[in-house]
Amino acid sequence: MKILLCGQWTSDECQAWLEALREALGPGVQWLQPQQAQHHAPEVEAAVVANPPPGSLQNLPRLRLIQSLWAGVDRLLDDHSLPRDVPLARMVDPMMTRAMVETALWAVLSLHRGFFAYARRQASAEWRPHAQRRAAESPVLVLGQGTMGRAVSEALRGLGYPVQGWRRSDTDDALAALLAATHIVVNLLPLTARTGGLIDARFLAALPRGACLVNLGRGAHLVEADLLAALDAGHLRHAVLDVFQTEPLPAAHAFWRHASVTVLPHVAALTDRASAAAVVAENLRRLQAGEPLLHLVDRARGY
Ligand code: NAP
Ligand code: GLV
Repeated sequence: MKILLCGQWTSDECQAWLEALREALGPGVQWLQPQQAQHHAPEVEAAVVANPPPGSLQNLPRLRLIQSLWAGVDRLLDDHSLPRDVPLARMVDPMMTRAMVETALWAVLSLHRGFFAYARRQASAEWRPHAQRRAAESPVLVLGQGTMGRAVSEALRGLGYPVQGWRRSDTDDALAALLAATHIVVNLLPLTARTGGLIDARFLAALPRGACLVNLGRGAHLVEADLLAALDAGHLRHAVLDVFQTEPLPAAHAFWRHASVTVLPHVAALTDRASAAAVVAENLRRLQAGEPLLHLVDRARGY
């Protein structure tokens, strides 16, 4: 079987992916890189991709599966040349989910206990304890109750946080009521036509004064200027941001130096090569055996 491997990687990263995939799939597969694919285009049956440049999957007449190595497929779906009739599977990697749980727990604990404020005080050698609240007094709202949102919600409940979730079938009225009762919002939505720009001035105003935001979904969920205004007005206490409208975050962006913003470089949960390669291997086995494929994206819904 000939499979195209295509991503926006350094050559070292590409090599590491090839090694992990070869180990998981064995010798029966011929892996092709984009520069070789032209000569083998009529025989390519599957593509394993990590946000490839737009147009990369055109002119592959026997393509039967596009397997993403990323959980979120918004950038792939933005490529209007993506073959319409070929099944698209996203990555559901148990180790990536575990990493997301770690990041979300760190962020929520740090916000609830005020550890980011202590880090600021350390910079000016300021010894000033603040009041200690119970987890039970810090309600958390997790936007998105899919693979990531459910795992994060369960882990937070295990630490004693009251956790509410929000999903597609819930109404906007339900969201407004949830926001009013939330201290910390964790965003784990996919980026779709319906979720872009969701976290705007209106959304933030619905939160109680002193609330915090953790954005681990996509940068385009957040109206960045509205967040800065809410922080500067003191309505929001702190934001932990892993994803941005423009990545890498430009050096001049206000978030880098804002005292109430913690910036991560889109690392909340990276795909784990070894466990993701096993997921790819299972889906390719199913493809060859004619069995139902795992983790298929509903293109009309956008996730
Ligand atoms: P998933 O399993 O597809 O879950 C998506 C969840 O979002 C579902 O609960 C879905 O509702 C809900 N949803 C979709 N559209 C909605 C809407 N319009 N209103 C309310 N809820 C809506 O996705 P996942 O694996 O949990 O991943 C979620 C996202 O996390 C990814 O798409 C990606 O953007 C992001 N992510 C970020 C990183 C990082 O490092 N920062 C890493 C991995 C993933 P239903 O349950 O009703 O379908
Ligand atoms: C990372 O953001 C992913 O979607 O896998």
